[in-house]
Amino acid sequence: MRKTIKDLVLLRNIRLNPDNHLLIFKVPGFDSDIKPGQFANIEAKYSTSTFLRRPFSIHNIDPENETIHFLIKRVGEGTRHITDLKEGESVSVVFPLGHGFTLPERDEKVLLIGGGCGVAPLMMLARAIRPYSEDIHILLGARSAKDLVELDEYSQMGELHITTEDGTAGEKGFVTQHSIFKNVSEFNRIYTCGPEPMMKAVAGIAMKNNIWCEVSLENMMACGFGVCLCCVTETKEGNKSVCTHGPVFNVNDLKW
Ligand SMILES: Cc1cc2nc3c(=O)[nH]c(=O)nc-3n(C[C@H](O)[C@H](O)[C@H](O)COP(=O)(O)OP(=O)(O)OC[C@H]3O[C@@H](n4cnc5c(N)ncnc54)[C@H](O)[C@@H]3O)c2cc1C
Ligand code: FES
Repeated sequence: MRKTIKDLVLLRNIRLNPDNHLLIFKVPGFDSDIKPGQFANIEAKYSTSTFLRRPFSIHNIDPENETIHFLIKRVGEGTRHITDLKEGESVSVVFPLGHGFTLPERDEKVLLIGGGCGVAPLMMLARAIRPYSEDIHILLGARSAKDLVELDEYSQMGELHITTEDGTAGEKGFVTQHSIFKNVSEFNRIYTCGPEPMMKAVAGIAMKNNIWCEVSLENMMACGFGVCLCCVTETKEGNKSVCTHGPVFNVNDLKW
């Protein structure tokens, strides 16, 4: 789908917990050619200090109802204004941006790993993988049980595994300490999105075990079009802007 800039009407603003909102926008004339892992730049409409749009992964799409969904964590001024939008209000959105994940071959065993707001793109990814593989495992990590959202929805997409740092849900510890990694070589593909230290640890495990792995980077962004170069990451072919060459990269292409 060609990238487009549209004023989208907010249909639903669902507060999943004190920090996370699910925003559902109407997209008239919806073009479903959006790839999992692509993102959108959303204007922080009423903020007087947040001039730049903020990037968010496309969490889900519903072509039948012509909607696009975002899972947004309130961390600062921009996300506060965006998640404070009222249902019925419209906001300017540029989408879809960047390159998405590579889908697996038929019947491959896949592991999707999300930490923090990095869980967002995994919903659409899992939905896209389901026609190819029934062996989908989703590992979600958070600080505490109260930070986990949409567990029912994720469990409908695959076998769900949880870690929390304080042990209030699932296994206690960091994502990469989960027992699923004891048999990690059974997986054909790993996809991950979350805090960089988590993704680097996952990438290390994947490379050590020779498992194909893609990461979705969440570098700070400004323009979202490859112009300002504030989002660059070091790859084996030199510096590349995450907004246009990514946000999804194969770990073997990164200089990690
Ligand atoms: C490709 C991409 C996809 C993203 N997808 C999602 C998503 O689906 N859901 C979601 O909630 N967030 C997502 N993010 C992160 C989101 O863009 C930032 O949280 C948001 O821009 C912060 O804006 P703010 O004005 O509220 O915070 P600011 O006031 O700008 O910053 C507040 C705090 O958040 C930190 N921060 C700001 N931007 C980022 C970032 N990119 N990564 C990590 N920390 C950051 C700052 O260092 C600061 O500590 C994504 C980022 C990228 C680049
Ligand atoms: S955000 Fe400007 S080049 Fe990527």
